[in-house]
Amino acid sequence: MPSGVPKDAMPDNTRRPLPAAATETMTTNDLFALSERYYVPVYRPRRIVLDHGRGARVWDRDGREYVDFGAGIAVNALGHAHPALIEALTAQAGKLWHTSNVFVSEPPLRLAEALVEASGFATRVFLCNSGTEANEAAIKLARRWAAAQGREPGRRTILTFEGSFHGRTLASVTATAQPKYHEGFEPLPPGFRYARFNGVAAAEAAMAAGDVCAVLVEPVQGEGGVTPATPEFLAALRDLCDRHGALLMFDEIQCGMGRTGSLFAWQDSGVRPDVVTLAKALGSGFPVGAMLVGDAAADTLQFGAHGTTFGGNPLAAAVALAALRELSSPDLLGNVERQAAAIRAALDECDREFGLFAEIRGRGLMIGAQLRPEYAGRAAEILDRCVEHGLLLLQAGPDVLRFVPSLNIDDVDVADGLARLRAALADFAGAQPSP
Ligand SMILES: Cc1ncc(COP(=O)(O)O)c(C=O)c1O
Repeated sequence: MPSGVPKDAMPDNTRRPLPAAATETMTTNDLFALSERYYVPVYRPRRIVLDHGRGARVWDRDGREYVDFGAGIAVNALGHAHPALIEALTAQAGKLWHTSNVFVSEPPLRLAEALVEASGFATRVFLCNSGTEANEAAIKLARRWAAAQGREPGRRTILTFEGSFHGRTLASVTATAQPKYHEGFEPLPPGFRYARFNGVAAAEAAMAAGDVCAVLVEPVQGEGGVTPATPEFLAALRDLCDRHGALLMFDEIQCGMGRTGSLFAWQDSGVRPDVVTLAKALGSGFPVGAMLVGDAAADTLQFGAHGTTFGGNPLAAAVALAALRELSSPDLLGNVERQAAAIRAALDECDREFGLFAEIRGRGLMIGAQLRPEYAGRAAEILDRCVEHGLLLLQAGPDVLRFVPSLNIDDVDVADGLARLRAALADFAGAQPSP
């Protein structure tokens, strides 16, 4: 206690009883009152309290059932309560939860081995807990890699692209080339440059000075509007990185782990990166992230250069290993293509009926429906209608509906979800004044 402050004037939390354990008697409104009272209000969730899920269905606290076309935000790639993940988690939970990295245990070692073998390019793995941490590791790796070649700090610039999203730590949010995420957090760390996404000439110009040590790019931009990089753009970035001695780093946090129809998004383009970052579907709902590094920079980060207490946590690694086995199965990847085709066909049909979409785009089960200019900014209203009809859907910015369901979603759930979507779109379109 600071000296001079009378004891009774200090708040004394020890006198307050702990809140009662979770109780079924709390209503949705009671629980939202807790969120309003206790959370730092950085999120604005829909006013439903999700309680349990199975496959691509979720139920709220009031017993309402939803088809889940969002899978968290492209996280629950194997749906909810997948038996193989439950088994992996519970088996490990009875053995060992945590060792920190001063010791090792088997699950993270086996996960690293499996990721390297499956990746087709990587030789080493750094395990962490989230996407932003994986990108933070990649940014630090790139800087160290350049430093080891004797490049002074002014020549260790990281190039990223407009519309990107790379996370919320200070470096990864600076890499995120969207001013709305920067506001009020200045001063931002120096050494980042932005260019137009899918603009080959813009990337060439941004690298002309020879001071770029790495290019960080999403093969399919997620938060920025579900926009695929063109194969020509990725090939040009590879070429520019080779010419200027820079690392090519793919952020596959949203688009990786099977979502595009191949286990890794880089495999679709055939453009081989030097670094790939992963999270989201890697743990399919359990928090875990990873940075995969190829030969060019595999030996850059040595003892003491980087680390994290929880990285390689045995529970997370056991779940991720089980998820990786499922996500790399040819049947599952075939399902991605099939269900993606069904969703796209239904969106085309809805567009013919209601005339809402300017473009439907994406790769595999990462699909964006861009609203026509007259409906700009109204994606959130459509999502509200979807909830009313028992469908959980996402937006990617104010103008794009985002479809990222679980990758093992079956025909029945897709058909049911699409019927609910049609009903929601009919309501939305029907509420518009006639021209
Ligand atoms: C492409 C991409 N990179 C990085 C991140 C940040 O991941 P996390 O929220 O796990 O820190 C996200 C999250 O949406 C993402 O979509």
